[in-house]
Amino acid sequence: MKKITIAIDGFSSTGKSTLAKQLAKELEYVYVDTGAMYRAVAFFAMQHNLIGANFFDKDALVSALPKIQLEFKFNADLGFAEMYLNGENVEKQIRTIEVSNFVSKVATVSEVRSKLVEQQQEMGKNKGIVMDGRDIGTVVFPDAELKIFMTASAETRAQRRFDELQAKGDNVTYEEVLKNVVERDNLDTSREDSPLVIADDAIEIDNSYLNKEEQFDAVLELVNDVVKTA
Ligand code: DC
Repeated sequence: MKKITIAIDGFSSTGKSTLAKQLAKELEYVYVDTGAMYRAVAFFAMQHNLIGANFFDKDALVSALPKIQLEFKFNADLGFAEMYLNGENVEKQIRTIEVSNFVSKVATVSEVRSKLVEQQQEMGKNKGIVMDGRDIGTVVFPDAELKIFMTASAETRAQRRFDELQAKGDNVTYEEVLKNVVERDNLDTSREDSPLVIADDAIEIDNSYLNKEEQFDAVLELVNDVVKTA
């Protein structure tokens, strides 16, 4: 079967990664969570005191970029790849609300974006890849054979993220999570470099009222159609 490139973009907490992981497993494709890469850079900036509640030393972060090495390593027990920052597994650390609060700011920096985009393009050069993020169909792989754009209401997404964080024992309120979701939407859609926009040839899926199975079946059908004609 011909291998294609599948780009999944959309707002935060729309279940992009769940869908992308399911697809990659079914199709035996590589899955890449580009949000994890931006999160790892944000985590690096936090660790080195380059970003905080009232400050962001962009220039220092840009100078430090050559010292940031990102790598995905497949964890066979979990069935997906985990994010490593300079050789350390940071999968847990990058999923906290603190990182979520800073990551959109870090993602506005063009030098950060071009470093990560280059690495993403390299990972996808042989196709057979499902990549999720904000700019995959518009910037990273504008020629992807299938582009999906996922949306859901801010409240639905905040509730999902809140449930996930609570399950992990993170002590946050729903209001705090909703505020973060809305703020990130604003930053992601209004930044100058590669804002979150729907590609002209993307298929939009609003999953506020779709369950995971319905959504997966619908997208798998799209994949099969595209593979037939690719
Ligand atoms: O998908 P996520 O919520 O883990 O992404 C974290 C942040 O990274 C998100 O607020 C925007 C940014 N991001 C981006 O700008 N471009 C991408 N391709 C992926 C994520």
